Amino acid sequence: MKNLFILALLAVTFSCASTKSQEVLPEPTILPKPASLEMKPGAFTLKKKISISGTDESALEIAELLADYLSAQRIESEIVDADGDIILSLTGNTESEAYSLNIAEDRINIQSDGAAGLFYGVQSLIQIISNNKESLPQLAIQDEPRFGYRGMHLDVGRHMFPVEFVKRYVDLMSHFKFNTFHWHLTEDQGWRIEIKKYPELQTKAAYRDGTVIGHASSHDRENEKYDGEKYGGYYTQEEVKDVVAYAAARQVTIVPEIELPGHSLAALTAYPHLGCTGGPYATSKTWGVFPDIYCAGKETTFEFLQDVFDEVLPLFPGKYVHIGGDEAPKDKWKTCPHCQKRIQDEGLADEHELQSYFVQRMEKYLNEKGKSMIGWDEILEGGLAPNAVVMSWRGEAGGIEAAKQDHDVIMTPTGWCYFDYYQAGPEGEPLAFPGQMTTVEKVYSYEPIPAELSAEQAKHVLGAQCNVWTEYILDGPHAEYMVYPRAIALSEVLWSPKVENRDYQDFVLRLNNIQPYMDELNINYAKHLFENSAK
Ligand code: ACM
Ligand code: ZN
Repeated sequence: MKNLFILALLAVTFSCASTKSQEVLPEPTILPKPASLEMKPGAFTLKKKISISGTDESALEIAELLADYLSAQRIESEIVDADGDIILSLTGNTESEAYSLNIAEDRINIQSDGAAGLFYGVQSLIQIISNNKESLPQLAIQDEPRFGYRGMHLDVGRHMFPVEFVKRYVDLMSHFKFNTFHWHLTEDQGWRIEIKKYPELQTKAAYRDGTVIGHASSHDRENEKYDGEKYGGYYTQEEVKDVVAYAAARQVTIVPEIELPGHSLAALTAYPHLGCTGGPYATSKTWGVFPDIYCAGKETTFEFLQDVFDEVLPLFPGKYVHIGGDEAPKDKWKTCPHCQKRIQDEGLADEHELQSYFVQRMEKYLNEKGKSMIGWDEILEGGLAPNAVVMSWRGEAGGIEAAKQDHDVIMTPTGWCYFDYYQAGPEGEPLAFPGQMTTVEKVYSYEPIPAELSAEQAKHVLGAQCNVWTEYILDGPHAEYMVYPRAIALSEVLWSPKVENRDYQDFVLRLNNIQPYMDELNINYAKHLFENSAK
């Protein structure tokens, strides 16, 4: 027995000595974790100058992005016609997000039936390069996402973010394999997209006369203090086109949100006839929910919104358009003769059915233009529009109800998906949405398919999204601080195969491993969370 052991030891020692270059290198960390990763013996050595080839134009566009990353890491690369050290092979023309990545001794192959898959293969390779620098482990990855909708949202109404930051936000999310950017473009506090037919949206609705200092006090407005500084701005249609193209190159589709019937005070300020009382109104300087909303009785409201969508839709090639639908108090509708007449004429039971009428009318318009409508879960009240997709934010109940009604659903429940909530503290943290906390661990624990749904109903859950409301997020670096690393936890929830008991400690270790990658990307992530986890 003892001799056998010594013999075995000798054999192992001999084989290691004779095939030194064939040892299996440590497994690289890739977040979100790939569906399957098989380590192989040996390494691919990154040369001083690396060549990349692509099988067609889309593959070459992705090759350029890889070359950009390499160049930022001071690794020289060139795009060649064929037979590169790295070959990007597009083997179909589908929307597939699946890819294979093979690292052999002298060649790296990334293959997919779709440009999206190829792009994700490159993202995985980039993380491997970031982990390993010169010597990449030989391996084979087969990967595909669990969910088709992997979203990140940004509210640009409460605070305005420059085009360069919006692009950066999209770029960063794409590295973690998110594919949808929900651009929340209109709010009580500012209208942020140029609509040429309505110039006062630019001159009036895009600005407010000041901003509340500290936490807003919706029950004590009298005591709120404002900074008195004019604040605002908007994106021109040319800028929007630029962002959309930039996102498309990174396989990110943009869902624009034009809020109705609520959160519309800025639009009413510019065009007071759109409200029930006719105003005057003022773009809000503080946060909360406000009673003045679009009048559902006047035809001019629908004309305005249809005109707005006529300019918005051509800018966004994606399938979905978000119409808001949340937090629309019905007080003004209750006393408005136009709204009450509409209720009578249409045989509606109450103001909830009037909201449903409003939303259904908009859905019909959008469907006729070839778009699918998304709304927050309040659109369930008074009856769901026939083809609407529900974004469940007040917990999971709205999503469950909608899926049971055979509607598609995107899960964004506050407890797991609201990244405007504190991630730590609150002592020592910058001001955030009061009284709420969503830690990285909580995000990582999220399961987008509610247990209540049958397997058939569960198919309606397209995926999930984090929401980044910006009442207390003043600029780009602050937004990044709130989003990272929580978004990486969500990326794994959405991309990686379901595991019964997700191991948070294992995730923390892997998150620590990609800290250098986050540093390469210059992300302003919440670094102190890492310091705590290392203790
Ligand atoms: C929301 O947070 N009001 C959708
Ligand atoms: Zn009205």
